[in-house]
Amino acid sequence: MKVLQVAAEVYPLVKTGGLADVVGALPQALAGAGAEVRLLLPGLPAILHGLDGLAEVCTIGPLFGAGRVRLLRGRMDGVQAAYVVDAPYLYERPGNPYLGPDGREWPDNLQRFALLGWVAAHLAAGELDPDWKPAVLHAHDWHAAMSCAYLAARPVRDVATVFTVHNLAFHGLFDPEDFFLLGLPARFMAPAALEFHGQFSFIKAGLKFATRVTTVSPTYAREIRTPEFGSGLDGVVRVRGDDVSGILNGVDPQVWNPATDAELAARYDAGDLSGKARCKAALQQALGLLPEADAPLFGVVSRLTAQKGLDLVLEALPDLLAQGAQVAVQGSGDPALEGAFRQAMVQHPGRVAVRLGYDEAFAHRLIAGSDAILVPSRFEPCGLTQLYGLRYGTVPVVRRVGGLADTVVDCSEDTLARGAATGFAFGPATADALGRALQRAVLAYRQPAVWQQLVHNGMAQNFSWEPVAQQYMALYRQAISAL
Ligand code: ADP
Ligand code: GLC
Repeated sequence: MKVLQVAAEVYPLVKTGGLADVVGALPQALAGAGAEVRLLLPGLPAILHGLDGLAEVCTIGPLFGAGRVRLLRGRMDGVQAAYVVDAPYLYERPGNPYLGPDGREWPDNLQRFALLGWVAAHLAAGELDPDWKPAVLHAHDWHAAMSCAYLAARPVRDVATVFTVHNLAFHGLFDPEDFFLLGLPARFMAPAALEFHGQFSFIKAGLKFATRVTTVSPTYAREIRTPEFGSGLDGVVRVRGDDVSGILNGVDPQVWNPATDAELAARYDAGDLSGKARCKAALQQALGLLPEADAPLFGVVSRLTAQKGLDLVLEALPDLLAQGAQVAVQGSGDPALEGAFRQAMVQHPGRVAVRLGYDEAFAHRLIAGSDAILVPSRFEPCGLTQLYGLRYGTVPVVRRVGGLADTVVDCSEDTLARGAATGFAFGPATADALGRALQRAVLAYRQPAVWQQLVHNGMAQNFSWEPVAQQYMALYRQAISAL
């Protein structure tokens, strides 16, 4: 089965979050399940520089304000081929793929991501590469969603589309006056299509027009049918009924494996955790934390945004530190949160360490060196850092939402006795509820037999991509037969 994956980021070339990790790992897993997978990416500088053997497939000509648009094809590990939309006028810029240096959306994001969708649709229709036409186009998040609208505008339906929501909070919303720029019939600017409270929404193109819609955990697939998690689109999701399902993400063992991870001070596995203790000591030293082997060390690796609930960590911090804990944070994002964490570090030298910024290698060291990882999200479509925590023997403390609820089993007498407990989960998004979970975690940490069991249960979990790829393959077959 030929499958075209369309996305705006891919690890290790361009990454702002978990989407890149998924797009980096899924193609290889699908190939293992028998698919022939190609990837389509925007021609951002890091992508053009990162691909090998780039050659022109065709010249497309001027489009969406760009004078020169070409389709290129190159090689990338793990995929049969990677196509790139080369449009320097729209994509040749430094930094974040979605935001300018001022931290605001690039003002021409409409053109930039409409172009990605347009090229995806025409490639899938067999118009751009005479040698290759996919049976399934799989688009990720709002950046790629317009591919589903461009294919839906075509009278012939010979390509199945799957749209995966990695985060429903990001819509890709634009002003109605600019609708004409899309080159779509006026009927697409209607509530039954892209219109959203007077504006138009790219993510709605995926939700409305994809043959099948998925999100990255079963619980989030249920949650987005409700006003609390639906981001104004819960009605649209409900209308799609059984066409919407949840498939949990996996973990790429070539990237996240404590037994082989070259970034770590020492490597380890469940059979011998002495390397983990060395990772902890090295982390404490690198961050200027007190060299206390017995202090429970709580880590955070996260975008600093309202989604992630880290304001709750700041509120719960004094109580946690009073119990002898240490906290290590790596993240970037909201300036107010960055400032508050920086201040916490100044107030608690040796006990709280904060690294602002994005650092892939250090994220590995932080997750390996911490005893527990905090993910108190307000909502979490899947969440990957708690999965990395489980693999690295770093016990997750999570809010019971989305993929966090699906991947972490709360520690209780019962779950411990059954050998099922892997972490700590709390319900309400309050500092009190988080505080109680943290207290339970510290108590468990002080009982080495209990903690060791949590660590071992977590490390024994299997989040490999193979079964995930099988689920996507089954869904692709379903989508093809639904055409
Ligand atoms: P999201 O995609 O919502 O940000 P996920 O948990 O799915 O959340 O994925 C986050 C990914 O980004 C993980 O691979 C995590 O290690 C990485 N990450 C987040 N913040 C940082 C940071 N400041 N430095 C390095 N890696 C980070
Ligand atoms: C999004 C979500 C996160 C998920 C990731 C990969 O960024 O916020 O929960 O793990 O996508 O699917």
